[in-house]
Amino acid sequence: MSVLRVERLRKSFGGVQAVRDVSFAVEAGEMLALIGPNGAGKSTCFNMLNGQLRPDAGHIDIAGRDTAGLPPRAVWRLGVGRTFQITATFASMSVRENVQLALLSQHREVWRLWRPAAARHAAAAEALLAQVGLAAQAGRAAAVLAYGDLKRLELAIALANAPRLLLMDEPTAGMAPTERVAQMRLVRDLASARGLAVLFTEHDMDVVFGLADRILVMNRGALIAEGNGEAIRAHPEVRAVYLGTGATSGGH
Ligand SMILES: Nc1ncnc2c1ncn2[C@@H]1O[C@H](COP(=O)(O)OP(=O)(O)O)[C@@H](O)[C@H]1O
Ligand SMILES: [Mg+2]
Repeated sequence: MSVLRVERLRKSFGGVQAVRDVSFAVEAGEMLALIGPNGAGKSTCFNMLNGQLRPDAGHIDIAGRDTAGLPPRAVWRLGVGRTFQITATFASMSVRENVQLALLSQHREVWRLWRPAAARHAAAAEALLAQVGLAAQAGRAAAVLAYGDLKRLELAIALANAPRLLLMDEPTAGMAPTERVAQMRLVRDLASARGLAVLFTEHDMDVVFGLADRILVMNRGALIAEGNGEAIRAHPEVRAVYLGTGATSGGH
């Protein structure tokens, strides 16, 4: 059974058909890249998958449950992880505390400010930090981390939810090219070790072609191609979209 199965997903904003009849599936342990030019509908897809947007039509099946229209919290409870940017409040906390807080949330516990919470899930937090290569930074304030390390912390926080599916919309935005590859290689290694399904968008084609098991290409709301790197590189419509040559995507 696929971890995620999407069928004929559809969403319009006024007259704009942002996503039209998109269908695909992601398997456990698979890294699936969703690419396409700006405005193709990638983020709209992500926002329907994570519960932020209600689809106009279609099905979203996550581990056997139709989640279309469920709120983000309910989707998260089903084991769907996503990376969030660390905001000011959390930046003042230590790297370890950020992960501990995520673990408290996963275990449905409340952060009791009047009680020393320092020990709660400390070992599990350290273990997660070690997995993303941040063990040495555990005691530092999140605010002082280098950008790449902050991104690794966001990943550790997402993993604290023990997700079966990780949704990453432009996870390496703002990173240097070498850091991007390192970050997504880390995601890929964690995904295969944990049997985690990963759906991500990425503009860096070295990352996409180097690390994705399979690639989906969207243009103007529709899925125009699906396959491995070789198939995608050779696909005439994909080449037309990216190189601006040859046939157009037709009809609109
Ligand atoms: N909240 C919104 N309200 C109106 N139009 C939107 C909204 N979100 C996205 N769109 C439109 O939907 C289309 C797809 O956008 P988006 O999903 O963000 O694409 P991508 O992530 O591939 O760049 C675009 O034409 C965009 O302007
Ligand atoms: Mg987007």
